[in-house]
Amino acid sequence: MNQDYLEELFSKIDITLPAPEREPERQYYFMKKLRSGIKELSERIGHTPAYHVETFGCQMNAKDSEKLSGIMSAIGFIEATGEKSADFVIYNTCTVRENANLKVYGRVGFLGNLKKKNPNMLIALCGCMMQEEHVVEKIRTSYGFVDLVFGTHNLYMFAELLYECLNRKDRKPLVRVLAASDKIVENLPSEQKFSFKAGVNISYGCNNFCTYCIVPYVRGREKSRRPDEIVAEVKRLVNNGVKEVMLLGQNVNSYGNDFRKSSDIPEECKKDFPELLKMVSEVPGLMRIRFMTPHPKDLSDKLIEEIANNPKVCKHVHLPMQSGSSRILQKMNRHYTKEDYLDLVKKIKDKIPGAALTTDIIVGFPGETEEDFEDTLDVVRQAVFSSAYTFQYSKRTGTPAASYPDQVPENVVSERFDRLLALIHETSEKLADKAVGSTVDVLVEEINESKDTLTGRMDNNMLVHFKGENRLLGCIVKVKLEECKGFYYTGSVLNLD
Ligand code: SAH
Ligand code: SF4
Ligand code: F3S
Repeated sequence: MNQDYLEELFSKIDITLPAPEREPERQYYFMKKLRSGIKELSERIGHTPAYHVETFGCQMNAKDSEKLSGIMSAIGFIEATGEKSADFVIYNTCTVRENANLKVYGRVGFLGNLKKKNPNMLIALCGCMMQEEHVVEKIRTSYGFVDLVFGTHNLYMFAELLYECLNRKDRKPLVRVLAASDKIVENLPSEQKFSFKAGVNISYGCNNFCTYCIVPYVRGREKSRRPDEIVAEVKRLVNNGVKEVMLLGQNVNSYGNDFRKSSDIPEECKKDFPELLKMVSEVPGLMRIRFMTPHPKDLSDKLIEEIANNPKVCKHVHLPMQSGSSRILQKMNRHYTKEDYLDLVKKIKDKIPGAALTTDIIVGFPGETEEDFEDTLDVVRQAVFSSAYTFQYSKRTGTPAASYPDQVPENVVSERFDRLLALIHETSEKLADKAVGSTVDVLVEEINESKDTLTGRMDNNMLVHFKGENRLLGCIVKVKLEECKGFYYTGSVLNLD
């Protein structure tokens, strides 16, 4: 968020008055209150207080972290280089798989040791894990040194919660987790990780209830953001130098479904996802649009047309298949069969020439037989993905699949997992090799100081390393692909001006 804009906003707030009820005004009021205490805090600790926010989850989790960082900066903290030099550490957690969860506990234990050396350190935990009652219970009993715990539904209240936490009477964790919320509060400060690309939430939550997945329980029911507000955010981002946006939702295809029943939304705002893509692409100065994640069950022809015909939309579809077995897909509650999925892949490849496809696959869902797994391998062979995220099935408490009796033994899962990985490597490397010699547009995302090279991301999401000047960071340049190194290329830049 623009600093001058923020200063002007703060100058209009009178913190001697009671807190306003409206959001986000209420949160700016608490930010200003926190801000007024920073000078005294700096004097007490002998330096400007520093924060560290760590993201453990998906792009949506990362976007939430940017909001937390935005608020920390707005109240006068600076960013620390890591936990060790931070006065305030915030862990934005994920619980989609058991190992995401275990990682957080390990790291919180480590924070406990840091806090023994620096008792003034503040620790906050938030994000999806905190929506689970057994997690909060464990924090209260085993990690009592944590200062603040909040969930996904009240992240927007971070400033207010922090204020309450700093003014609490005891040193016990302040726990503020809401079971649900139908509110969307936007227009709070946000600090982007990259100046040239940004995620933009288009919907929150999920209504699909895939039987293995915890997300609907920890993120709540699907709520779409109004299209005019999304476009306004994209315009603001582009004015501040953003070239590429990633539209974020658990199932972007169902964007706007909730508008249909609502009388609060003006008729002209009742858009579906392909229409939203079009509206966003009309923002002048925006160069690239990505989106995540479409669900195969309702990926419409209208969307395929829009991707094919809209030059700003990247020709990349991330289409999570989860399993290639129709029997398992049904048990997963995915609402499509192996054949439906393959038909969709064919349609995408026919209508969007050169489109890159990527996917998510779960190995070892309860009841998965060798034959079911062979179906997954078969789809991988036929669909030819540019890359795939592969996961071993992880039992999530509270989901239907967690209580299915026929859990697959760990050794079988890991053996299948290795076979799947090998096949994906083989098929995607072959595909990647074919692009060598072509010239592609890349967004320069990184400067690799040590090797004097730049890293750019192609339209299809793959990376390419090439020699180039630092000033190209954040620009879209043409690169000739010279060699394929498996999951990335090396190349040379064509237009230097
Ligand atoms: N909304 C997105 C994905 C969200 S979670 C979608 O529907 O595609 C990201 C990925 O994590 C999922 O696609 C799935 O492959 C994986 N995943 C979710 N729950 C899991 C579980 N219990 N065990 C293993 N992988 C899981
Ligand atoms: Fe989870 Fe399925 Fe929703 Fe994706 S669509 S978040 S996998 S329940
Ligand atoms: Fe994302 Fe993990 Fe939550 S994948 S929605 S941060 S459970």
